[in-house]
Amino acid sequence: MARLFFFLLLFPLLYSSVTGLRRSDFPPTFLFGAGMSAYQFEGAYLEDNKGLSNWDVFTHIPGKIKDGSNGDVASDHYHRYKEDIEMMHSMGLDSYRFSLSWSRILPKGRFGGVNPAGIKFYNSLINGLLGKGIQPFVTINHYDIPEELQERYGSWLSPEIQEDFTYFAELCFKMFGDRVKHWVTFNEPNLMVKLAYFVGGFPPSHCSEPFGKCDSGNSTTEPYIAAHNMILAHAKAVNIYRNNYKAKQGGSIGITLHMRWYEPLRNITEDHLAVSRALSFDTAWFLDPCFFGDYPDQMRQILGPNLPKFTEGEKQLLRNKIDFIGINHYDTFYVKDCIYSLCDLDLYTVEALVSESTERNGIPIGKSTPANSYVVPSSMEKLVMYLEQRYKSIPLYITENGYAQIGNSSTTAEELINDTERSSYIRDYLTYLSFAIRKGADVRGYFVWSLMDTFEWNSGYTVKYGLCHVDFKSLKRTPRLSAKWYSKFIKGYEQIE
Ligand code: NOJ
Repeated sequence: MARLFFFLLLFPLLYSSVTGLRRSDFPPTFLFGAGMSAYQFEGAYLEDNKGLSNWDVFTHIPGKIKDGSNGDVASDHYHRYKEDIEMMHSMGLDSYRFSLSWSRILPKGRFGGVNPAGIKFYNSLINGLLGKGIQPFVTINHYDIPEELQERYGSWLSPEIQEDFTYFAELCFKMFGDRVKHWVTFNEPNLMVKLAYFVGGFPPSHCSEPFGKCDSGNSTTEPYIAAHNMILAHAKAVNIYRNNYKAKQGGSIGITLHMRWYEPLRNITEDHLAVSRALSFDTAWFLDPCFFGDYPDQMRQILGPNLPKFTEGEKQLLRNKIDFIGINHYDTFYVKDCIYSLCDLDLYTVEALVSESTERNGIPIGKSTPANSYVVPSSMEKLVMYLEQRYKSIPLYITENGYAQIGNSSTTAEELINDTERSSYIRDYLTYLSFAIRKGADVRGYFVWSLMDTFEWNSGYTVKYGLCHVDFKSLKRTPRLSAKWYSKFIKGYEQIE
């Protein structure tokens, strides 16, 4: 009898978990989507009264971008958004994650007027999506800001930017909040401040020796000041949304962080502690203040006076200022303690006093990708469970996860289109995500990065994440094998490998 019970009930369950992943492994209201961001995707950088953004200026400085390119035209979504919505619809996407160009809506921040053409563009995009049953999942700020704010007061290093950001955010709630039900204040502010103020790779290119070679900046203080202003700007925007719009509009608001996963290099206490420090400096840096009102103790102990302090009033304002956490997850590293052990600190985790590696005893942490990253799908489950436990059953969305190919002049279109590795990558990460959901994590959506090929920041057009290939000469879009795989999966096909 017991055996019969196993075969009739448990076997199909176990079997489906090791063979094919199905849409029905996820909750019925789960959103499957794909994402893009304004600077990377829209182009039309000077059209219809758009102001210059910091990225428009930065990419025009020789030597900043690997292939000398910029986002002036990018994937030309500004002119092709209708075609792009059609494509999303034919793929069966439930939701589309995109960001708003601040300088298209407010060309000079709060120091100039609202640009009606910018509002009109996003209204047409949002209405077009909703008309096809696709939910807009909107990021208010994905790296690009009006250049005016850099020139006037030094952007994120000045507390003045909190006022500009909340002004912009409130305008977005007013203009689009009747139709947008998911808001993300910032995309990856934790990575942005490191790249902009630590290693100098992003505008305004500040850094100091030994971290990089820049003319100005102080890498030991500026990333933390910029982050401090972003955290307060986030909390103030959430406050405005909750006090004046949430009840009427019925949406929710969160923040998206860049989240690596870390494994101890050696199974010793010191390396387990190193993992916890690396996670604090990566993720809890932004999340702890927005849940508990202050930075993690580990950061305060290591950084001392270089870490700004919140006033008592600010601590109060900060507590519980997140409706959901957005997770951008791509990478996993081994980490080794550098407090009690001799080692070279790694650039990205230098403040956490750990060193990173991608190998243990000569064995790589996962399968390597052409873009020098490693595929470790089980980290998705571990990361989600870490957040679930630390922030107590908070709703989670995987706002980015994706596979990069490298394209150079000798790569053929066929090579780029037959991307079976990308489908396997998505399937494997989704499989471990479904395990976390089965363990009780409240995960509500998954967005592939990216919908199509686009401008990949410092790498220009050489790195390709798209489900759809873009020929940057003709701007023609071609769905890759992975787009077809993802579409079948979303549409609930049973036999999917
Ligand atoms: C994270 C960023 O949000 C996105 O803009 C970028 O293109 C992807 N990661 C890939 O690097």
